[in-house]
Formats: sequence, C-alpha cells, structure tokens
Amino acid sequence: MRSKVSKAIFPVAGLGTRFLPATKSVPKEIMTLVDRPLIQYAIDEARAAGIKEFIFVTSRGKSALEDYFDHSPQLEAELKRKDKTDLLEVLRQTDMDSGAIAYIRQHKPMGLGHAVWCARRLIGNEPFAVILPDDVIAAEKSCLQQMVEAFEETPGNMVAAMEVPMDKAKNYGMLDVAEDHGNLVSVKGMVEKPKENAPSNLAVIGRYILTPQVLKNLNAKNTGAGGEIQLTDAIAQEITENRPVYGFRFQGQRYDCGSKAGFLQATVAFGLSRPELRDELLAYLRETVHMDQAAQ
Ligand code: UTP
Repeated sequence: MRSKVSKAIFPVAGLGTRFLPATKSVPKEIMTLVDRPLIQYAIDEARAAGIKEFIFVTSRGKSALEDYFDHSPQLEAELKRKDKTDLLEVLRQTDMDSGAIAYIRQHKPMGLGHAVWCARRLIGNEPFAVILPDDVIAAEKSCLQQMVEAFEETPGNMVAAMEVPMDKAKNYGMLDVAEDHGNLVSVKGMVEKPKENAPSNLAVIGRYILTPQVLKNLNAKNTGAGGEIQLTDAIAQEITENRPVYGFRFQGQRYDCGSKAGFLQATVAFGLSRPELRDELLAYLRETVHMDQAAQ
C-alpha cells in the first residue's frame, strides 16, 4: 500500500433538502459564501494538503458543478479585452489541471458510505481523503493539511474531531475515546447521532483520511443492502477488527454550511474577514443589533 495521500473524494450527490427550493436547480455546493462557491473552499483546502486527484461523486442535476471547473475562454477573452487583470487572476486561481478531476455518478442517494464506495475503482490500494464541502473550515493551516501531516506521523484511519456541547451530540457521529493524546485521540467506538449518553463530547466533522480497507468494508455492506449505507459503520468495523482509528482535533473554526443558520454564520464570518467588506458589514451588523435590542 502507498502511504502518501494524493486523492480526495468529494461526495456531492446528496439532495440538499434543507435548502429547498434553492436546491431544485442549484447544487448546494455551488451556493456562495461571499463570492466563492462552497466547493471552491473545499478544493483550496485539498490543494493545500497536497491532493493531486479530485474525485467528485455526483448525481442528476449537478452539471453546474462540472461547468464550474471548466475554463471559460469567452469570459477570459472579454476580461482581457477590458484589461481586467485582477478578475483574470481571480479566475486563474480556480483553474484545475487537465485530468485532475474525475466525476462518478451515484445513481441513488443511498448514503455517504455508498457515495464513497462508488469511487472505489479510482482509489485502488492507497489511503485517501474524504471532504464534505458543506463543512467549511476556516483555518490558518488547512484542516486537511493538518490531518495529512498527522497521518504521515501516525498512519491509520483518521476523522476530524471537534468538541461540541453535550446537548448537540444527537446531531453528530460521536467518538468513544480510548486514549487522549491531545491533538490525536485513539478511538474505541463510534456512535451515530446518539439520543442520549454520548460517549464523549468529540464529534466527527466532514474530513477523513481512510485506508483502502474501509472500501473493502463498504463492499460487504453494499452487497444486498437496502437502506442508507453509513460511512461511520465501515470505519467502526476497523475498530472491531483491531485496526487503528484516530480522532484529530484540528485547529480552526468549522461552519455547518449544510444548515441555514450555519451558512448565514459563515457568510458573516467570511464577509468580515475580507478587508474590502469588513467596515461596511460591521457597521450594518452593529446597527441591526442595536435596533433589534431597542425594539425588545
Ligand atoms: P447530508 O446529510 O448533508 O445530506 O450529506 P444532503 O442531501 O447533502 O442534505 P440535506 O440533509 O438533504 O439537506 C452529507 C454529505 O454526503 C453527501 C452529500 O452530498 C453531502 O456532501 N451524500 C449524502 C452523498 O453524496 N450521497 C448520499 O446518498 C448522501
């Protein structure tokens, strides 16, 4: 098995029902934070981590995603003609090498585990990353880069982990911690969305580095399976078969852009981080809070 992580899977075949009616025609991953679609943040994070091959698991209605990664010669010619070099540079930053992106279809939304499994032939026998673009992570060093570095030191399956209040545990996959080494915790169990008694306050966030054995675990789950196929189950199987699974406490701020509240929070945070927008936005926010308080 090769040990370098050079491929990442982006499962983007979900229905995005929490954003209906927008997602009737716009893939969730194309929705924009300030002026960049969610998928661009995910791609930038992966690039910073040294990923060279980008595998999208898509579904019907996601062609806007494929178009986004195409070059746009007409637009570029027009910008050149108008001497808009700054905008040309913005476009250039989104260019991908020819052949770096592959698209695979998930024919039915049968769950995250099934989506990852759909990419199995493109992964082969090497460790790979999985990035869920609706978890956006603002960090000085890209979250996936932090994980790749940790993986190079301590190989094994690795999930990004974040502390959450116990009353929010029911919304996440939660880790049962065997040993806590600070940034890295070794995991002895994973519970998907526990209604009560979560084993810890460490929740799994949408970044993974997985060994090819997880795809084999998913193979078995896909033969004859009916309902949704969970990635968590295939990772938990690694623990029961005595192969290591780690939780990685990343440095950074995560926004749940799969939910409306999280998306709005991210919009404000990324807006405030842009020097050209900060003052105007901050003034507006202050005034709005002030008026809201006065009205109560
Ligand atoms: P979510 O649970 O957020 O589902 O999936 P969703 O369909 O995107 O959104 P809602 O809940 O209906 O609003 C988490 C990630 O897994 C992918 C999604 O695209 C998202 O990136 N996914 C989920 C698939 O690729 N296929 C599936 O069958 C399910």
